[in-house]
Amino acid sequence: MTLKFPKNFLWGTATSAYQVEGGIKNCDWAKWKDAGLACDHYNRYEEDFDLAKNILHNNAHRFSIEWSRIEPEKGKWDLKEIEHYKKVLLALKKRNLKPFVTLHHFTNPLWLVKEGGWENKKVINYFSRYAEFIVKNLGEYVDFWMTINEPLVYIGQGYMDCKWPPGKKNFLKAFKVLSNMINAHKKAHSIIQQVDPTAKISIATNNVFFEPYEKKSFLDKFSSSVSSYFWNRYFLNKVKKYSDFIGLNYYVHNRIQFPLKMKNYNTITSDLGWEIYPKGIYYVLKELQRYKKPIYIMENGIADAEDKYCSQFIIDHLKWVHKAIQNGVDVRGYFHWSLIDNFEWAEGFKPRFGLIAVDYNTLKRTPYRASNVYGEICKNNAII
Ligand code: FCB
Repeated sequence: MTLKFPKNFLWGTATSAYQVEGGIKNCDWAKWKDAGLACDHYNRYEEDFDLAKNILHNNAHRFSIEWSRIEPEKGKWDLKEIEHYKKVLLALKKRNLKPFVTLHHFTNPLWLVKEGGWENKKVINYFSRYAEFIVKNLGEYVDFWMTINEPLVYIGQGYMDCKWPPGKKNFLKAFKVLSNMINAHKKAHSIIQQVDPTAKISIATNNVFFEPYEKKSFLDKFSSSVSSYFWNRYFLNKVKKYSDFIGLNYYVHNRIQFPLKMKNYNTITSDLGWEIYPKGIYYVLKELQRYKKPIYIMENGIADAEDKYCSQFIIDHLKWVHKAIQNGVDVRGYFHWSLIDNFEWAEGFKPRFGLIAVDYNTLKRTPYRASNVYGEICKNNAII
């Protein structure tokens, strides 16, 4: 049976600057774990967008702008870098790929870090000023903006797990960052809308499908609901009046045992040990329906170096997305993570999330089998 997606559905892939561009030296991650040349996407974006167009048959693309390139020193703008991103946006336009642009995807300029990064309240003004500058200079090419990618993942990794910068285990600081991120988003949203009243602005939220470990246990059910509330909805509740759509990143399913123990069966997993659980995307979409806003799936993907699971992963997740649409959820686009293999933060270059393989010695791009499967779906706007 053919599963048709709505007319004008957006099909894309997602990347972020630090993970693909290469040559970024002025940010916290460059000191924490240097991505070096990464995929050299900074110079090869035309070739990569050709693949998105010709192999994947995409009509949209998500990427991020690197704040430390645009504002390498506090208050000093690098117009050469604006020119660069203008060329990137024109390259997308030329190929009819609708851009979705993220302003903050985990990395911070070093000058900001010196001032305490997101712990310092001043970041609210700094970030909004950067957002304003970007939208004034590039707004004519962009309809969809995401201020901050996965605020809770940023906080969890940087202030609790400490695998990411700043690597400070500190709840008080984590809380300050949370509050500053909420306020920075709100302020940036207002400023962007003043500059460009037609702009659509949101965050990208990483939502998890939580289930009680024992379906009948009252306490497990309670813990699972609390987890959903804090992880999936707390931030959104705070910014919902300042969000024109919802950007959803879905990767993970967790079974929660009271009080807050994650207990998964993990039968089939990705190379990173993440359980493959396509049905979860249906439930996280249904959970987001309450906000009554268009939803774009801004990330969903799998680390699968041998290309064993990725094709089926895409088909299965999209079947559940289709079902959610049938059941009334207003999903308007799907962006696979990622276009090309790239730098997976603390895990480095080993995990391969790309639909296109990158040989890090030669930088040669080679499509995986899954790219044909995804390309067919995008071309047909349907799973056939
Ligand atoms: C998401 C991040 C993205 C990438 C994927 C695998 O949480 O937003 O940068 O690392 O996970």
